[in-house]
Amino acid sequence: MVIHPSLLSRLKDQTLVVEAAKVGTEWQSWAQDGSRFDVTNPATGEVLASLPALGPIEARRAVEAAKRAQKAWAKRTGKDRASVLKRWHQLWLENLDDLAVILTSEQGKPLTEARGEVLYGASYLEWFAEEAKRIYGDIIPAHAENLRILVMKQPVGVVGAITPWNFPNAMIARKVAPALAVGCAMVAKPAAETPLSMLALAMLADRAGIPDGLFSVITARSGSEFGKEMTSNPDVAKITFTGSTEVGRILMRQGAEQIKKLGLELGGNAPFIVFDDADIDAAIDGAMAAKFRNAGQTCVCANRIYVQSAVYDAFLEKLSARVSTLKVGNGIDQGITIGPLINAASIDKVQDHIADALAHGARIVTGGDTSPLGPLFLNPTVVADVTSAMKVAREETFGPLAPVFRFETVDEVIAMANDTEFGLSGYFYARDMARIIKVAEALEVGIVGVNTGLISTEVAPFGGVKQSGLGREGSQYGVEDYLEIKYVCLGGQEA
Ligand code: SIN
Repeated sequence: MVIHPSLLSRLKDQTLVVEAAKVGTEWQSWAQDGSRFDVTNPATGEVLASLPALGPIEARRAVEAAKRAQKAWAKRTGKDRASVLKRWHQLWLENLDDLAVILTSEQGKPLTEARGEVLYGASYLEWFAEEAKRIYGDIIPAHAENLRILVMKQPVGVVGAITPWNFPNAMIARKVAPALAVGCAMVAKPAAETPLSMLALAMLADRAGIPDGLFSVITARSGSEFGKEMTSNPDVAKITFTGSTEVGRILMRQGAEQIKKLGLELGGNAPFIVFDDADIDAAIDGAMAAKFRNAGQTCVCANRIYVQSAVYDAFLEKLSARVSTLKVGNGIDQGITIGPLINAASIDKVQDHIADALAHGARIVTGGDTSPLGPLFLNPTVVADVTSAMKVAREETFGPLAPVFRFETVDEVIAMANDTEFGLSGYFYARDMARIIKVAEALEVGIVGVNTGLISTEVAPFGGVKQSGLGREGSQYGVEDYLEIKYVCLGGQEA
């Protein structure tokens, strides 16, 4: 149980790395059965810290504490809740450098991206702190003279949250900020690969005066026991999950017994379309951002790049030139733009997609090989002449592989883009306004980037259609998932 000096020595405030979970009102460093799990740095393989492997008993205790804390928290005014969240936001910013180092160390993304993520996470806190004062209801003109109709919005109660390893800071921010802003409490489980970021945020929450019990962080080796507890505990009103569609389905099944409310942000298979009237240089910039941010490990990652025939060769040439300038390495080092992947299974999946594409007639334009830097590093790869018959067309690669497809007509590419059970995001580059409107309307996704490869912001609704999820996070829509609507019919009123 020793935090690795390579991490500690880089921190201004070493107390932000804790080898304990926040269970209700206490920081707990041991599991009842003594079991623990290690957090490793994917770039170096070093064990950074060891955490208690907690189970349903601790999750239940956290829910009990959350239930008590939530009642008092919900009674406070929106303005009061906002001021506590703003203090948390302030501490988040003051500790930006340390939070970014912790994030890069456990997740692998380049330090500049980690700083971007911490700021992105903080922006949710700021946004929803402001929204805390604007949880408006309605007065509806009644259907009879002696009645008045009020609609009030109330917090759902205790929320269980499960977050992924690809954005260990921003994904919990996007959930806990709206939940607490409207008066809910949250019991969260970070991914086993990246729990240190969420624990550091919980430490800052304590310092900001977030009431004890309101935000628990349960560390666990896997999500399945936590998920079962959240879906079966009657005191949990809602579950919010970001992760795979497969796990989303399991949570839905388990939650069916109690008709558990669910917010799901699941997998994607984003099309990125370049039409022949596009600004090709802008499309290259967009493709680099949408494809290679976080080494391709984002749910909104450009998974299939469709390029119209007339600009196909020019686009490929420019894309491969830009991809060759990416610098692979340990994200903590200066100038690195592609870090390691999270684990061996991720490496295997990307390699399988490359091999399958080659076996079915695609060709490598750039990359395709592993990197000598370590077992979790892959050189960013561009594969051309990809077709719908290949695995990359159907499965989310979640890695630094850009498969490029050729297409001829607008209707053909719309059909190809929509030929998937996923519907999170889609991107396209074009200049013709009629074409822009037609394609934006036709894409079966929750988020469309037109002439941009970066669509993430706290002010807009994030979420998918089809099997990419339920509900929206961020923006004014993001509070709705944490609110119940109550209609009050007031009788006996004077006509
Ligand atoms: C995700 O990959 O799930 C989130 C990406 C983002 O918010 O930009």
